[in-house]
Amino acid sequence: SQIPVITIDGPSGSGKGTVTGLVARQLGWHVLDSGAIYRVLALAAEQSGIAPTSEAALRTMALQLQVEFVDGKTLLGGADVGRAIRTESVGSYASQIASLEGVREGLLQRQRDFRQEPGLVADGRDMGTVVFTDAPLKIFLTASAEERARRRYLQLKEAGHSVNLPALVEEIRARDERDTNREVAPLKPADDAIVLDSTTLTIEQVVERVLAEATTRG
Ligand code: C5P
Repeated sequence: SQIPVITIDGPSGSGKGTVTGLVARQLGWHVLDSGAIYRVLALAAEQSGIAPTSEAALRTMALQLQVEFVDGKTLLGGADVGRAIRTESVGSYASQIASLEGVREGLLQRQRDFRQEPGLVADGRDMGTVVFTDAPLKIFLTASAEERARRRYLQLKEAGHSVNLPALVEEIRARDERDTNREVAPLKPADDAIVLDSTTLTIEQVVERVLAEATTRG
């Protein structure tokens, strides 16, 4: 495909969601929040009482998932689940099912379908390594574990969720470890990715850097 893609991968709390939204707005491109798709599948599975290890059932569910992103809303079978999918408990369930090959396969084409004119900014763990390997610009965004936990804490608080900081730090640590060490599509920079450490950078500085790279590679 000739349609341009910028991939932004990284661990939870690295700022990739915010950066993805701002870069896409600047360029007038589409957004793929792939983590939201894994989260919606996790929520649907939890609601249906499917165990996070039932690979065949989860693969079927992944292929049939009725998820839509409309006007900034995340809909599951028409119901707004935007808030429900943001809890760390759904994130943890998502990371368990995301380690299954059948689940990743079941969601692959759905993610590639987001590549539409005039371009796409895709946020996740394997956007550059698996889903859009031919992307002309790949970013891997990191930050220290403390800073990432702090950002997630503020995000959750702002969204009105009650959070226990030590428990959150532990859950994020476990989730990142699972995402990094899994056999299928582990979290790691693509060979041709630009690695950006955002620990001491503002969101604006990261966005500027990504846009500068996009212009150079345009
Ligand atoms: O990015 P977010 O925190 O919303 O993702 C939730 C979980 O979904 C991650 O911890 C990861 O296990 C999984 N995920 C993934 N591949 C992606 C995006 C998310 O495995 N491309």
